[in-house]
Amino acid sequence: MKILMAASEAVPFAKTGGLADVVSALSLALAKLGHEVRIALPRYYSIDRGQLTQIEGPLGVPMGGREEWSAIYTTELPGSIKKNPVQVYFIDHEQFFGRDGIYGVPWEPDFLDNPRRFTFLSRAVFQLCRKLNWYPDVLHAHDWPTALVPVFLKYREKSEGFVNTVSALTIHNLGYQGIYNKDNFFYTNLGWDVFYNTGFDDWNMMNLLKAGLNSADKINTVSPNYARETQTQTHGFRLDGVLRYRSVDYTGILNGIDTEVWNPQSDKFIPANYSAGDMSGKAKVKAVLQKEFGLPVEPDIPLVGMVTRLTEQKGVGEVFGPAYGSAWSICRDMRIQFVLLGSGEAWCENEIKSLSSRLPNFKAQIGYSEKISHLIEAGSDFFLMPSRYEPSGLNQMYSLTYGTLPIVRNTGGLADTVQNFNQETGAGTGFMFDDLTPSAIYNTVGWAVWAYYNKRSQIEAMRLRGMKQNFSWESSAQQYIAMYEQALNTDALRQ
Ligand code: ADP
Ligand code: GLC
Repeated sequence: MKILMAASEAVPFAKTGGLADVVSALSLALAKLGHEVRIALPRYYSIDRGQLTQIEGPLGVPMGGREEWSAIYTTELPGSIKKNPVQVYFIDHEQFFGRDGIYGVPWEPDFLDNPRRFTFLSRAVFQLCRKLNWYPDVLHAHDWPTALVPVFLKYREKSEGFVNTVSALTIHNLGYQGIYNKDNFFYTNLGWDVFYNTGFDDWNMMNLLKAGLNSADKINTVSPNYARETQTQTHGFRLDGVLRYRSVDYTGILNGIDTEVWNPQSDKFIPANYSAGDMSGKAKVKAVLQKEFGLPVEPDIPLVGMVTRLTEQKGVGEVFGPAYGSAWSICRDMRIQFVLLGSGEAWCENEIKSLSSRLPNFKAQIGYSEKISHLIEAGSDFFLMPSRYEPSGLNQMYSLTYGTLPIVRNTGGLADTVQNFNQETGAGTGFMFDDLTPSAIYNTVGWAVWAYYNKRSQIEAMRLRGMKQNFSWESSAQQYIAMYEQALNTDALRQ
């Protein structure tokens, strides 16, 4: 099958969250299964042209009564297998992408011209295929930034080379929909009939994700449980109706993890490697982690870690909220150590700095670091992830793979990947709670700490159980193929 991923992020080129991990890892997994996969990305300012090969000739993209011109660069996706590499194409447009930031910068978190930038990207994908004279069977879009790809396919492009092409749209995060003033609809070159018939309209605004969800041949999200949750009012972010309406074509496919990068046996970021057969390396990593964060090196104090974007979705209010957050009492009342790596909302970064100056057993690094994230995943005893909602979540799967027990809220993909501890039988792979409240977090961390001190053999058995789970991409990639095949079959019948 020929598959084109249209995305706004992909590691190692551009990343704000798990979306970037997934676009690349899924592409590599599909290529391993023998499919021809290409990725279209913007050439953000931070991506060095010197490392890429330019494709000759400009690319013209019709937009709002004129044409936008860009250049195209390409390279192989790192990690590709030799005989079937994943080729990445970068759309280079100075005005739209020649600046710092992917979606925004701290002083302009959502660039004012984002609807225009991502309308451009979504339309450019089609021109790119024409230029390469390469037409995919499947156009696979991700989240609101490329949600217009299925719309353009359905209402503008489904002819000539694209006549047998189908579209898929993956929801990685329903909380971001790309809602903008409808004046921006002008840039799509589509008619107002499409605006009103396709679900662009959202209380007189323009909703890019909603239009995409109504237009794509198949839609999915990144775990089965989140697929169910999003069809309810509680988790639907006002699109539950659309998702229920599309339920026949809507599934949940759990993310995998990149086991080349996230594997305690071969991880290059950690000072000692280990496996379920020999856990001695984990203790060494814990000691280095404690040193790194300036904590006393004590093997028998439970160490709780967090690596996260500091944003409401991740439940950070309930942990770090001034005066009501649980971190203060957790660190004060319990004999533990707590380390955090994260960046995000300013209030939260400030609060974390203030806590770490007042609590001797709470240490944090504000920023982004691949290396420290591996060190925390490997060296901690517990990994805290109290998400408000979590489409899939990768960190809890990394934790399980590294023998670090996740403490998670029973929601989204967390519920699909973690089994709650049963202190009677010792079963389970982590600790779970239902309500997102500071006291639920406090109590559940307390429960884990109690088990650490009082049920140590059960804790060690849980670690090994988690490490034996298989979160590799292979089976998820097969489910994506099945979804593509269904779309292609339905489309063939329709024609
Ligand atoms: P989300 O995409 O919602 O942030 P995921 O769990 O799917 O959540 O993925 C988060 C990814 O981003 C993981 O790969 C995680 O390790 C990484 N990450 C988040 N914050 C940081 C940080 N400050 N430093 C390094 N990696 C981070
Ligand atoms: C989003 C979600 C996260 C998911 C990731 C990749 O950022 O918040 O749960 O793992 O996308 O699909």
